[in-house]
Amino acid sequence: MAQIKIDTIHDAVQEHYGSIVERVQQSQASSCCGDSSQSAAADCECSSTLYDPQLLENLPVDVTGLSLGCGDPVTIAALNPGETVLDLGSGGGIDCFLAAKQVGESGYVIGVDMTPQMLAKANANKVKMGVENVEFRKGYIEDLPVKDNTIDVMISNCVINLSPDKAAVFADVFRVLKPGGRMSISDIVTEGDFSPELQANMDSWAECVSGAIDAEQYAGLIREAGFVNIEVVDKVGAEEIIERKDGMPRIYSARITAYKPK
Ligand SMILES: C[S@@+](CC[C@H](N)C(=O)[O-])C[C@H]1O[C@@H](n2cnc3c(N)ncnc32)[C@H](O)[C@@H]1O
Repeated sequence: MAQIKIDTIHDAVQEHYGSIVERVQQSQASSCCGDSSQSAAADCECSSTLYDPQLLENLPVDVTGLSLGCGDPVTIAALNPGETVLDLGSGGGIDCFLAAKQVGESGYVIGVDMTPQMLAKANANKVKMGVENVEFRKGYIEDLPVKDNTIDVMISNCVINLSPDKAAVFADVFRVLKPGGRMSISDIVTEGDFSPELQANMDSWAECVSGAIDAEQYAGLIREAGFVNIEVVDKVGAEEIIERKDGMPRIYSARITAYKPK
């Protein structure tokens, strides 16, 4: 992988998602991960195609209109009442609000995001919806602002591909999960590697394309962090929405689940 400074990637990604919030506020943003034809998040009609419409009933358009994911990690997680959930890269909060409904008043949901505009939008949505059991925290998914062994379920929707240090992400998720806790991830993965030139392209990285890594390598990093029962399934080709260029591997939206041993 190309040697790009972690701060360079964080800054490019933060700028990208900050500007999406600003454009959504002006009703101009149109697709997941941005409005470029390169965007890798599959099914870019976003919330309307990623989720069962029944799940979205009663969610305001301010929430559904800022859905930038590539799957439905909340349904995959099969949440139980009373569970504590952590959403990595919570964006406008759609998965946090869906999870909050499912864990109920005795449960709790923490969303972590590094982009101030996203956090402001998520908090405004929280107030608008009058939801009490959700909290949004500013932080990096590589260094989570969360105590050890406190989380039942980690969910994440189209975010870990954006991280410049995926090994650190999985190591920190392992730290915060309770023994027996689980991960439920929707993310972009590949079959093969991007060329170093594409990996160094920060626009492509921020659009959920060239930060994505090979599915086997992704599963390997999860294993190295200590997780067991790792599954990478339901890979959906993203060809229709990405113009394949030289130096590009096959790109998929996948669902990935794993457990911290008891
Ligand atoms: C593609 S959007 C997905 C948002 C949300 N999960 C959804 O489904 O709508 C990626 C989000 O992850 C956040 N993000 C990306 N890299 C991050 C990192 N290293 N640490 C914290 N947040 C990050 C961005 O600020 C952005 O809000």
